[in-house]
Amino acid sequence: MAILEGKGLSINFGGLQALSDVDFSVEEGEIYAIIGPNGAGKTTIFNCISRIYRPDTGYIEFHGQELLKKRISDISKLGIARTFQNIALFKHMTVLENLLLGCHSKLRADVLSAGIFYGRAVKEELRIRERAEEIIDFLEIEHTRKSVVSLLPYGIQKRVELGRALVSKPKMLLLDEPMAGMNVEETEDMARFILDIQEEMGTTILMIEHDMGVVMDISDQVCVLDFGKKISEGKPKKIREDPVVIKAYLGEMTEDEGNG
Ligand SMILES: Nc1ncnc2c1ncn2[C@@H]1O[C@H](COP(=O)(O)OP(=O)(O)OP(=O)(O)O)[C@@H](O)[C@H]1O
Ligand SMILES: [Mg+2]
Repeated sequence: MAILEGKGLSINFGGLQALSDVDFSVEEGEIYAIIGPNGAGKTTIFNCISRIYRPDTGYIEFHGQELLKKRISDISKLGIARTFQNIALFKHMTVLENLLLGCHSKLRADVLSAGIFYGRAVKEELRIRERAEEIIDFLEIEHTRKSVVSLLPYGIQKRVELGRALVSKPKMLLLDEPMAGMNVEETEDMARFILDIQEEMGTTILMIEHDMGVVMDISDQVCVLDFGKKISEGKPKKIREDPVVIKAYLGEMTEDEGNG
């Protein structure tokens, strides 16, 4: 069953057609990768899903609900969480503080609904702390929980950002280049965590990634964009062999595989 569906998405930025009539359909529980050269429109799709951009045409449904009619603040409540191409963390704060903030909007709502029942609010706070500690264990970053984020290696910061997105127990995770800037070992760790999130938490994952080795290894479906248009979609094997993809993209694929 499709959990997320986009139909006929187009968006133009002052004459630049960033997306042209793009369709996609993500099945519940799968890892769906969006690939394509720089500027192809990948992040723009994420920004449409998270309601940062409003597409000129088309619609997006999540669990049958029309996302474009929702407010930005409703997106996380529906169970969609994301990471950003450039790490979006409070860098002067500790890992634990950042993870607790991942639940901030949820906590506020819960505290409000708890009204004056202080005891219930305290319990809620404890539950969130427990969840943050669970994620810290899961991502194997116990040793960093009290560390200030800016002082941590880049690969660990990316892992913390993934953790921040996971604290709210999302049904769907949008990962914008989770392996970017990582060394081989960090990339392998990240790939393993993404697979574990899919398998152990049952989370559906929509992932933009340039590392073709990883994409072909862990994705169930791949969508290829080029100049704002979807040029191919299918299982990794089909994408690898698709002459249209090879023509648009082979240079980059070969280079990345060679490196990784
Ligand atoms: N807010 C904006 N205003 C103007 N142009 C934009 C805006 N957002 C994106 N674009 C343009 O739309 C095109 C697609 O951008 P997008 O960020 O989606 O590419 P991408 O596929 O994620 O590329 P990369 O691999 O480099 O991250 C680019 O040409 C970009 O400059
Ligand atoms: Mg991008």
